[in-house]
Amino acid sequence: MSDPSHGWEAVAERFAAVRSDVGADVVRRWATELPAGGSVVDIGCGTGRPIAVALAGAGLAVAGIDPSPSLLAAFRHALPGAPAACETAEESGYFGRRFDGAVAIGLLFLLPPATQAVVIDRVAAALRPGGRFLFSAPRVACRWTDTLTGRESRSLGEAGYRALLEGAGLRLRGSHADEGGNHYFAAVG
Ligand SMILES: C[S@@+](CC[C@H](N)C(=O)[O-])C[C@H]1O[C@@H](n2cnc3c(N)ncnc32)[C@H](O)[C@@H]1O
Repeated sequence: MSDPSHGWEAVAERFAAVRSDVGADVVRRWATELPAGGSVVDIGCGTGRPIAVALAGAGLAVAGIDPSPSLLAAFRHALPGAPAACETAEESGYFGRRFDGAVAIGLLFLLPPATQAVVIDRVAAALRPGGRFLFSAPRVACRWTDTLTGRESRSLGEAGYRALLEGAGLRLRGSHADEGGNHYFAAVG
């Protein structure tokens, strides 16, 4: 049977052990653009540390989606009471509601290009008008092998993501970089 987590359930313990705080500052900065006390869905949330915890610390109401049962259990432990769904981003019902913001850190490039397009469409549909979407991916289109899972990752690059975002009714509005040299695209509905 295929693994909906793309290999992450198998490496959940190792991933949780090596995940640093890289990216937390970027999401904290991004969070200042959201309405005070607004809602955010963390897609591919992993353990919730450091991203969802940083968002909750910024006063936002966070929900998490991740198809790895082990990583989602860690998310539930880190953020008791936060809505959490063990689902893929492409099939999730997004809790049947809309959010002020969505983040997908370290997720989109794990997925085949056609699935990345579906996820961007689903995220756009889960955002309120004017909602914001932050996701990480290399700025330039490229492929590489993920060191933990051994699976292929694929960034569609700025032009590719811009086209998908526009097709979904979102506009690429800016970018961020973290201390680890990772690139983040910021979009708005
Ligand atoms: C590199 S980890 C990033 C986790 C977290 N966002 C972080 O920054 O620590 C990738 C995460 O994406 C999840 N994932 C894999 N395939 C997914 C899918 N189709 N939909 C949603 N999440 C997925 C994995 O289970 C894993 O938690």
